[in-house]
Amino acid sequence: MDKKFFDYIIHGGDYNPDQWINTPEIWDEDMRLMNLANVNSATVGIFAWSMLEPEEGVYNFEWLDEILDKLHANGKDVILATPSGARPAWLAQKYPEVLRVNENGIRNEYGVRHNHCLTSPVYREKVRKINTLLAERYKNHPAVKMWHISNEYCGECHCELCQEAFRDWLKVHYESLDELNEKWWNGFWSHKMTDWSQINSPKDRGENHVVAMKLAWRRFVSDSHISFYENEIAPLREITPDIPITTNFMRMYDGIDYQDFAKHLDLISWDNYPAWDKGENADEALEAAFVHDTFRSMKDGQPFFLMESTPSIVNWHDVNKIPKPMRQAQSSIQAVAHGADSVQYFQWRKSRGGHEKFHGAVVDHCGHENTRVFREVSKLGADLQKLGGAVGKGYNGKVAIVYDWQNKWAVDVFCGYNNTKRNYLAECLKWYRPFYERGIAVDIIPMDGDFAKYDLVIAPFLYMLKDGTIDRIEGYVRNGGKFVGTYLMGIVDKDDLCYLGGFPAGKLKDVFGLEVEEPDSLPEGMTNTVSCNGKNYTVVDICDILHTTSAQTLGSYKADFYKDTPAVTVNSYGKGKAYYAAFANGGDFMTDFIRDIIADLDLGAPAFEIPDGVSVRKRGDLTFILNFADEERTVTLDKEYTNLITDEKITEITLPTCGYAVVE
Ligand code: GAL
Repeated sequence: MDKKFFDYIIHGGDYNPDQWINTPEIWDEDMRLMNLANVNSATVGIFAWSMLEPEEGVYNFEWLDEILDKLHANGKDVILATPSGARPAWLAQKYPEVLRVNENGIRNEYGVRHNHCLTSPVYREKVRKINTLLAERYKNHPAVKMWHISNEYCGECHCELCQEAFRDWLKVHYESLDELNEKWWNGFWSHKMTDWSQINSPKDRGENHVVAMKLAWRRFVSDSHISFYENEIAPLREITPDIPITTNFMRMYDGIDYQDFAKHLDLISWDNYPAWDKGENADEALEAAFVHDTFRSMKDGQPFFLMESTPSIVNWHDVNKIPKPMRQAQSSIQAVAHGADSVQYFQWRKSRGGHEKFHGAVVDHCGHENTRVFREVSKLGADLQKLGGAVGKGYNGKVAIVYDWQNKWAVDVFCGYNNTKRNYLAECLKWYRPFYERGIAVDIIPMDGDFAKYDLVIAPFLYMLKDGTIDRIEGYVRNGGKFVGTYLMGIVDKDDLCYLGGFPAGKLKDVFGLEVEEPDSLPEGMTNTVSCNGKNYTVVDICDILHTTSAQTLGSYKADFYKDTPAVTVNSYGKGKAYYAAFANGGDFMTDFIRDIIADLDLGAPAFEIPDGVSVRKRGDLTFILNFADEERTVTLDKEYTNLITDEKITEITLPTCGYAVVE
């Protein structure tokens, strides 16, 4: 889905002039340097509350007026932040209830950031007030083009207010205590609740074995963040209805259901910090691609913003190795290939003191432009100016992989089968790789996404099913879709109650034409083999032992007491096909299997060979080619293209490691 917020790719990042309030000459120098760096925007005010309201009810916006005017005079767009991510000391001192309480019931002292209660009425009111004042003051400022709400919402609070809010949440989501007891299977270990007040948040020293309750708590925490955000944005929606709103997500952070939160944002933005040049870059690129696709898919293919990335190093890895020259530029171009309409950094200028003073920035402590990092940022800025054709162009793949935030929660918390080897994201990445390596766009969707849009839907490890999922899978396949399920599929409902009557749940048995009898778990070092289409594949960690009813067997186990029983099946159901891959594998099986099942589909793969380590992605009329291999790679194109970066006509291109080209 196309959607344009700017007419060009935004290039800028977190800018903290509030830290340099006593050296105004630095502000002017920043303007000069931003122009040199081909930076066209700045994200201002993220953690500036104590500068904006130094004492309760005493406001100081003059510095912000001045910097916004300066930025505007220099042709920069401003993404204006609300400051709730960190608070002034006076606020915490006067209203201790705003501080977070840990799971042991101990209230944090003032300090760090993201240290606030999500429920506290006082904090919500204070946030609303400061946001109202920001919106009133800057509603007509010509530089202000977007709202950046808070920063990386995360964490949870266990204070009494939150406990009470949790109980209220439960009362909305369960009709009665009896229903809750039934759904949480509280007859087990004598856990029947007789009063709502007996329910507390999960914790190590208290209740931590009622899986349904843990899932409910995670849903509650996620909803609390969203309601906190709704409180933050209410005045902005009212006072500045035309300014789009986003908040920056943190990769696949699972403390909040981002797929749900996404519905409340005008656009998605996220902070990307891959660990480049420390291991296998091609794998790092694949994972970054998956995350970009996840965020692009959250609003039906609409472009998203790369809100943060480092122009050089971070400071929070154990060892902060400098990535190779131009790696960060390549990483930024990769984001644009996958749908980003911005490349933004944390941070514009290194802070002089504090926890992040050694974190990469466009402007180093030296303060001048004569650095490798600065030159690379300027070069990238110039390159981005040539990619105007991408701006606003959204896109969808014809294949979807189901990665569902709530399924991740459920997979992480259950006890049983293989408790040591259980990585939902890693499983999804294995199914993503065969498409990624062929340059085929894949959407990453929740289980309640719209399957009908896709020629093929793959749902790895879909252990928990939200209400309605069984019918939706059944309808999709009946109407002609191709669906791939894997081991441990359709085991529990959203409250972690096992489906009765055989697995996978309900009529999924008919859709797949099989019934799973027993999942087997393989200890580290122990394997089985599956033979499928004349090739052998290693079984690791876990596999289902099953019998078919109507499915055709494509592959079988070769060892153990279930030797010669089905491990890979396909079932024709209605107009579609349902495939079942019953075992975990390192990835070679997925590559071959996907090749076979997509042979009759046109999924929009590029019409040229993609060498090993190279990633190709089409966005609108542009094709992005990125070399993540450690040596140079030559790509022979299917026809003549214009290389937009160099403005040359080419039919072949040789890229060094970290190299990128965008061709049209
Ligand atoms: C982000 C955060 C930034 C900065 C950055 C450092 O997660 O939003 O404020 O701390 O990390 O990498």
